Amino acid sequence: MVSLQHAHHRSGQGPRPRRSRLAVVSAATAATLGIAFLNAPSADAGHARDAGSHGSHHGHAGGHSPAYLNAKLPTKLRVADLLGRMTLAEKIGQMAQAERADVTDDPTQISRLGLGSVLSGGGSVPAANTPAAWADMVDGFQREALKTRLGIPLLYGVDSVHGHGNLLGATVFPHNIGLGASRDAKLAEKIGHITAIETRASGPQWAFAPCVCVARDDRWGRTYESFGESPALVRRMETIIDGLQGRKGQMDQRDHVLATAKHYAGDGLTTYKDTPDDANDYPIDQGIDEVSRAEFAKLALSPYPDAIRKHHVGSVMPSFSSVDWTEDGLGNPIKMSANKELITGVLKHAFGFKGLVISDWRAIHQLPGTYTDQVEVSVNAGIDMFMEPFSGDTVGYPQFIQTLTQLVNSGAVPMSRIDDAVRRILTVKFDLGLFEHPFTDRSLMNTIGSPAHRAVARQAVAESQVLLTNHDRTLPLSKQAPVYVAGSNADNIGNQAGGWTLTWQGSPTGVIPGTTIRAAIDAATDAPVTYSQDASAPVPAGANGVVVVGETPYAEGPGDVNGPAWAPNGIQTMQLSAADQAAIRTVCSAAATCTVLVVSGRPLIIPPDLLGQIDALVASWLPGSEGAGVADVLFGARPFTGKLPVTWPRTLAQEPINVGDANYDPLFPYGWGLTTGRR
Ligand code: GLC
Repeated sequence: MVSLQHAHHRSGQGPRPRRSRLAVVSAATAATLGIAFLNAPSADAGHARDAGSHGSHHGHAGGHSPAYLNAKLPTKLRVADLLGRMTLAEKIGQMAQAERADVTDDPTQISRLGLGSVLSGGGSVPAANTPAAWADMVDGFQREALKTRLGIPLLYGVDSVHGHGNLLGATVFPHNIGLGASRDAKLAEKIGHITAIETRASGPQWAFAPCVCVARDDRWGRTYESFGESPALVRRMETIIDGLQGRKGQMDQRDHVLATAKHYAGDGLTTYKDTPDDANDYPIDQGIDEVSRAEFAKLALSPYPDAIRKHHVGSVMPSFSSVDWTEDGLGNPIKMSANKELITGVLKHAFGFKGLVISDWRAIHQLPGTYTDQVEVSVNAGIDMFMEPFSGDTVGYPQFIQTLTQLVNSGAVPMSRIDDAVRRILTVKFDLGLFEHPFTDRSLMNTIGSPAHRAVARQAVAESQVLLTNHDRTLPLSKQAPVYVAGSNADNIGNQAGGWTLTWQGSPTGVIPGTTIRAAIDAATDAPVTYSQDASAPVPAGANGVVVVGETPYAEGPGDVNGPAWAPNGIQTMQLSAADQAAIRTVCSAAATCTVLVVSGRPLIIPPDLLGQIDALVASWLPGSEGAGVADVLFGARPFTGKLPVTWPRTLAQEPINVGDANYDPLFPYGWGLTTGRR
C-alpha cells in the first residue's frame, strides 16, 4: 500500500498547482537558449541482439515466430515489426504507468489495458518487504503483461536513489550530496552498479535515478538529491549512470537497470516564495525558475547532453517546476510537463535524446485546463509515458487511456506522436532484454546487503565527510581516551539514512540493517564510550566529546524550509534544534575536546557563539546504513578528503548563495574541506 505520506501528498493534498498560463515556447527559443550543442548524432542503429538469447516464453516454435521476437535482429527492426502489429489501444496502453497498489487488487488490469509499466512510489512495498517478495510481486505483474496478444513485457520502476532504499535489507548509500562531497566519480559508478544489482535482483528493471539537479537554494527539500551547486560537479558524478546501466548495449544484463536523468530541467533553480498563509504549499519545490535563457542553459540544461551522449541515459523525467524567462518579462511561467520546445525541441532534437520521457507523479494534473487539455498538451509536448498512478475515483491511468484515445481519434494528437512514444518505450524494453528474459534473474539476490556491498558504502561515507574546522588538530581522535557521544542523530539510523528509505519521507523510527554513528564509534575505539543523547550523563574526565546533530528525514516539498504543516517529521528550518544546541553547549564546556557532526541533507546554520565553542566541525550529510565510514575518519583509519559540494551559509538570509556570486561571503565556501593524515 502506498505510504500514508505518499497517499497524502498524492491525494491532491499536496501542492496547489501554481498559476501558469498555457503557451508553447516559440521555436526560436531553442536557438536563443544559446545552446551550442553539436548536431544530434545519427539515429541510433540500435543494438544487434546477442545471438544467445531467444524469445522463448511466447511458445512460438523456431522460424514461425514474428520478427520482433527474433533476438538476432537489430532492435530497430524488432521495434518496427512490433509497432506495425499494434492497435491504437495497445499503443496507448504502453504509454500508461500505474502504481502497484492500484493494480495489486486486480492485476488483470495490466493485461486488459495492456499497461506498459507499473511503479512503486516511495514506500509502496509488498506486504513482506523482502527481496523474494519484491521479485514475486514484479514477476506476478509480468505474467499478467505476457498474457496480452503481443506479449509485450512490463517495465517496473522504483526510486533507487541511494541504493534500493524502499527494500528492507538493501545497502543504503549516502544521498547524492554526500557523493558530490567525495568528488569520486569512479566510486559513483561502483555505487550505481551495486544499486543496479540490488534493484534488478529484487525485480524492478528501472531506477528513477540519478537526479542531475543543480541545487542552488539549500532551502529546497531536494537539495540532498543533488550532487551539488556546480553543473560541472553534477556532470562529473554522472558516472553513476554507467554503473546503473552498464556500457551501451549492456542494459539487458542481470546487474543493470534503466536509469533516469531527472528532473528535466531546472528543478533546482526555482525561486523561494514563502506563502505562510497556505499550510499545504511548497515554498520552493515544484516552483518557478525565474531566469534568463542563458542562465537556464548553464545551470539547468547543461547536465543533460553528457547524460545522453556520454552515459546514454535511457530515460528522462520532466520536472514539476516551471520556467519563466526573465527576457520576456516575468509572469508567464510554463510547466516543464507542457514545454514542447524544451522537451521535443531541445531534449529530443537538439540533444538527440532517443530514450523515453516519463512524466513525474501526476505532474500533468498541474497543467491548466481540463484533463483532456492536460493530456493533449503533455503528450504533444513530447512526454512518452505517463505516471498516472491511480484508478477508481482519482483520475489516473484508466482515464488517461480513454482521454488519449479520444484525442487521437479527433486528430488533436497525431498518430506520429503516439508512434514516436511507443517506439521509444519498445526500444528500451528490447534493450533491457525483457522480451528474452521477462522474469527476475534471482542469481544475485543473495548479494543484496552483502558485506562486500556495504564495504563500498562505508568507503563512500568516509569519502563524503567534510572537515570544516579542526582546531588544534582535534581530529583524528585518539583510541586511548574515553569518548562521550551525544546529540539527536548519534544513534538514529532512520535520521542518518534520510528520505526515500523504507517510506517516501523516511522516518526517525525507520530501522534498517546497518550501523549508527554511535555504534560505529563503540566499535572503533578501545577506550570506554559514554552515550547520552541529551548530554545529561556526566562527562568523564579527559573524554573527547562527539555531538551528532542535524535534521529529521524528509523528501520533496515537505523538506522545504517552512514547508507544509503536514510534513510527517516536522517542519524544516535549516537551524539546529534547541536540544542539539544545548547538547553542544554542555559537551563543549565539559569535555576535553568537542567535535560536532552535522547529519543533514544540506548545510545548517551554526550560530557564531556556538561555532566558537566547537573544536572540530564535520558535515556528515546523510550517510545511509554504513555509519562506520564516519568512525573511520573520526579515528584516522581513513583520512578526511571530502570537499563542500554546496556553499555553507552564515545565515538563512544569505540563501541562495553559490560559488561565483558577487559579494560571496559564506561561512565555508564551495570546495572547502580540511584534510587529515592517517593516524
Ligand atoms: C516523485 C518525485 C520523483 C519520483 C516519482 C516516483 O514525486 O518527484 O523524483 O521519481 O515521484 O516516486
